[in-house]
Amino acid sequence: MVPLKRRKVCGAVSGRETTVKFPHVVIYLLERKMGASRRAFLSQLGRKNGFRVEDDFSDNVTHVISENNSGDEARTWLDLQQKGNVTVKLLDICWYTESMRLGCPVEILDKHKLQEGQKFQEESVEFSVPVEFSVPSYACQRRTSLENHNTNFTDALSLLAENAELNNEDGRAVAFQRAAAVLKALPVKVTSMTQLQGLPCLGQHSQRVIKDIIENGVSSEVESTINSERFKALKLLTGIFGVGAKTADRWFREGIQNLTQLENSGHDLNRAQQAGLEHYYDLNQPVTKAEAEIIGDIVKKAVHDVLPGSEITLTGGFRRGKISGHDVDFLITHPDEGKEVGLMAKVVSWLTAQGLLLYQKTTRNSYLENEEGPAQPPSNIDRFERCLSIFKLEKKEMHSIRLHPGTQSSDREPAIIEHLQHFQANSFSNSQMRPNRTWRAVRVDLVVSPISQFAFAVLGWTGSKLFERELRRWAGQVKSMSLSSHALYDSKQCKYLRATSEEEIFAHLGLEFIPPKERNA
Ligand code: CTP
Ligand code: MN
Ligand code: MN
Repeated sequence: MVPLKRRKVCGAVSGRETTVKFPHVVIYLLERKMGASRRAFLSQLGRKNGFRVEDDFSDNVTHVISENNSGDEARTWLDLQQKGNVTVKLLDICWYTESMRLGCPVEILDKHKLQEGQKFQEESVEFSVPVEFSVPSYACQRRTSLENHNTNFTDALSLLAENAELNNEDGRAVAFQRAAAVLKALPVKVTSMTQLQGLPCLGQHSQRVIKDIIENGVSSEVESTINSERFKALKLLTGIFGVGAKTADRWFREGIQNLTQLENSGHDLNRAQQAGLEHYYDLNQPVTKAEAEIIGDIVKKAVHDVLPGSEITLTGGFRRGKISGHDVDFLITHPDEGKEVGLMAKVVSWLTAQGLLLYQKTTRNSYLENEEGPAQPPSNIDRFERCLSIFKLEKKEMHSIRLHPGTQSSDREPAIIEHLQHFQANSFSNSQMRPNRTWRAVRVDLVVSPISQFAFAVLGWTGSKLFERELRRWAGQVKSMSLSSHALYDSKQCKYLRATSEEEIFAHLGLEFIPPKERNA
């Protein structure tokens, strides 16, 4: 028997384990016109989101939610309950669905209130459309596995995001990424636009793309992007390690569209770009999990040789469960704070002495904790001691995948598959492929963190990039906190919140813990 007090707090949940996040908001869904099954569904949804939803009406109820009833009808019903509860709020279902979407009770605006003394307007379609999915708006509130049911849409939106990035339109790129991330989180394949009602982050442009795919099987904008000379050239040029969107754009405007033209242009390339060009083929081949493990063993050996007791952690995409990636990311620390100082230089010397590095650029640690909290960060880039490198990996029996990951899925738009395969086949000259070579080049990122910042560093270097961006946005917008790969600062309490695990950081942020494999937003 559940004690009475507890039963009251949990409403009609009776026995089911849910945490009530907003105990002062006690919701009752009016069954009239909503129907019993929809009411049951919406009640369950609310409870899952931490809302207190009662099965029975009582004096505790603060919010009555109605769907398809006029204000007068709802008031008449309420009067019949004869509870004399005059402060109860009569609200339209739109308040409830919005609150579900945002994960907290939203402020009650006029549009949410049931209008009394006037007839219910049948044409207010928006209110009567059933909400098919409830998706919280920040990607860090959601679980996103590697597989998703909507690759036909997410591939298209991701490609448009990539194109926007290549055009230096970062705001637009993030908008497409957020839209793709919402579709990645849906439990089923979307087949009609009405299923998308009420979902966050789907702007008009993204909706147009989705509609196009639903109606025509393909997005005309994606097709024309893939076929545009500019996109093809920018993609090829930014495929060179050390070349970003701005440089690629400048070269493209000078008429450079491929590697041969670049080599003949007489441009002075920096050290990274020279290495990038030299190893272009290898660096555009995905790194397999098996290769990542071999490199992990090498790095472990190096680190343990130069500083016994050090710990290394595989981060980035592989920690999220990916089976291939564009590089391998490692985070290194030592359980005694301070011991890690100077570690990177020694590791790099060790690797160099073994002939394992084709390229490396090491940056010193420049992080200093400021007692008044972090300065407005000029960028989200962290200040750890780090080494961006290219490893020389003996192939032995290892054979890397020669196809872009995921291009064989049947659900993918043919044009995108073709584009990816074409990119693979036509970007390389034979000399770059060097089939007889016994080794391949692999991009490796090494980062050293003091143990006191380790949890933040692991969280920050695990990604995905969008997940990280959303965590920081949540921290700032919802919690008035500032999150980086070094620390979490609470601007209300004016203090740093310490953590020794990722779980603690999520708890500080008031978020449910999302394991790495479900951070693939
Ligand atoms: N990162 C970072 N600072 C950088 C570069 C990367 O904090 N200067 C973080 C990113 O936020 C990301 C993680 O390091 O969370 C890994 O980045 P990256 O290797 O670029 O991406 P992956 O997710 O590992 O994807 P891939 O498998 O293609 O490498
Ligand atoms: Mn990576
Ligand atoms: Mn990386």
